Amino acid sequence: MGNTSPKLNPELVYDLFGGIFKPQIIRLALQLDVFTPLAAGSTSAEQVAQSCHCDAIGIKSLLDYLCGLQVLECHGNIYALTPTAATFLVKGRKAYVGDMILHYTDTALFDNIQQSLRSGKPSSLGEDFVQDAWLESYLPWRIPKSLEMWQAAGISTEHRENLRILDIACGCAIKSLALAQATPTVRVTCLDAADVLVVARDLAERMGVESQVAFEPANLLDASLGENQFDAILTGQITHYLTKADNASLFNRVYSALSPNGVLVVDCPMAADKPTETTSFLTLLLWANSGGAAHSFEMYRAWLSDSGFRHIKQLSQRLLVAIK
Ligand SMILES: C[S@@+](CC[C@H](N)C(=O)[O-])C[C@H]1O[C@@H](n2cnc3c(N)ncnc32)[C@H](O)[C@@H]1O
Repeated sequence: MGNTSPKLNPELVYDLFGGIFKPQIIRLALQLDVFTPLAAGSTSAEQVAQSCHCDAIGIKSLLDYLCGLQVLECHGNIYALTPTAATFLVKGRKAYVGDMILHYTDTALFDNIQQSLRSGKPSSLGEDFVQDAWLESYLPWRIPKSLEMWQAAGISTEHRENLRILDIACGCAIKSLALAQATPTVRVTCLDAADVLVVARDLAERMGVESQVAFEPANLLDASLGENQFDAILTGQITHYLTKADNASLFNRVYSALSPNGVLVVDCPMAADKPTETTSFLTLLLWANSGGAAHSFEMYRAWLSDSGFRHIKQLSQRLLVAIK
């Protein structure tokens, strides 16, 4: 008992770095590309090792670990990709997300954050929005959750035919496509970079709503959004990436694009009075990236009322609505 003290918390210290091993070993597996030889069919550790020019005993340990993570399956000495690995981890396949994982696990990312902390200047973190969109597009629970979000925001399609929605920085657009799928008269315009819209189009086809959707490749920082064109506009998980000046400019253009009584839905992390792990992590990351932050509701209220919005309401820690 002499070595212990109730004031010390060694568990906390283990927790500070314990999560590093899984991502770094997945990184190794992607770099050695153990998934490509398995994409041709189930095979032995020796065959994978030969294809990857690696040691067979070491590769067997790595493949066993990947089985433990449910990325692979194994029957005796024969290994196979799970459907998840076959979809997301085989280089060259449509929904491959290995580049995103390699990017997030690269020390260069953290060197850039350190550089920003020293200099006070943003440095690009180079997020892979396309691969992120592919992953998101296959999350089935997103559909009911998105319908809950629209309902919470007061967007009811029951008494409203032909609702026109603009989804700014839509990613795979699952949030607005969910509403289009639930109500065939809803029309959605998806705005994002052209390569991300490839994912949104693919998802619209999978959901059977492509005839209800238009795709608008544009840079939200300066795109003209038109006048009185939409009944609702969603900005989902984007405004915390933006600086104060960029948000103020975006909300001015969003206001013009909405029809009278149109609804703006902002889905984003908002800072609370006390910093939480999630909001302060996002603020650090996005400040280093581009000068963004988990801005507070008060900040949003100021931008929105300056743009002319009324009835600006915070519905939860990550949802607010406002009316034109
Ligand atoms: C975190 S994702 C959010 C996706 C989706 N809206 C959601 O709520 O999950 C951010 C999206 O913003 C898009 N984006 C970032 N900067 C942009 C810009 N300047 N112009 C257009 N889209 C942009 C990215 O391509 C990405 O799809």
